[in-house]
Amino acid sequence: MKGKFIVFEGNDGSGKSTQILKVEKYLKEKGYKVVTTREPGGTEVGYRIRKLLLDPAYKMDGLTEALLLAADRNEHVKNVLIPALEDGYVVICDRYILSSIVYQGIVRGVGVENIIKLNSIFEEKIKPDLYIVLTLSPEIALQRLKMAGKNDKLDTEDFDFHRKVYNGFKEVSKRFEKCVNIEAEGTVEDVFEKVCKVIDELLVKR
Ligand code: TYD
Repeated sequence: MKGKFIVFEGNDGSGKSTQILKVEKYLKEKGYKVVTTREPGGTEVGYRIRKLLLDPAYKMDGLTEALLLAADRNEHVKNVLIPALEDGYVVICDRYILSSIVYQGIVRGVGVENIIKLNSIFEEKIKPDLYIVLTLSPEIALQRLKMAGKNDKLDTEDFDFHRKVYNGFKEVSKRFEKCVNIEAEGTVEDVFEKVCKVIDELLVKR
């Protein structure tokens, strides 16, 4: 693959979306061809799956969630990620397999090994060059979400859920390859500086 595959992960409210926008601009200004995309919802089919997953009207089993997310991922890998990487793009992806490991594997109790097994089919095709895992303490993250008026299913879960997600990301970023955990407590610019440092290191190695 000619391109680079950079994934942003982290707990809800960690400021991931803000950093992604800034990184996209930063890399385009440096002259890179950049595609920004997300999971779930990076394709037309995926967008439908995202709606279903985030609809508070539906409660579903953790494994059902993992399977729907894998269906979304398959469409995304085949139609967006592989073509862009083959074409030499820097792909910035908002969430990928690490989210399934944390949310479904750990928090919803499906089991980390089961999620790894389910997603191995994608790992055989493409692997992220870098996972930037932004974590922010659940107390602060929840305050931010409240201020932003976010009300989808996962954002309204109780504090315990958010704490488990936060701890989950901390734990997996130590355990899995290519992960850099950045604490997102500082200002947007403080965090951006740290993020850029990691990305520059990756892209200079090209
Ligand atoms: P995200 O797009 O980051 O939320 P928003 O745009 O509303 O800030 O993620 C949507 C939700 O999907 C998020 O709460 C985490 C969840 N998710 C999983 O549970 N498992 C996964 O594999 C992925 C990719 C996302």
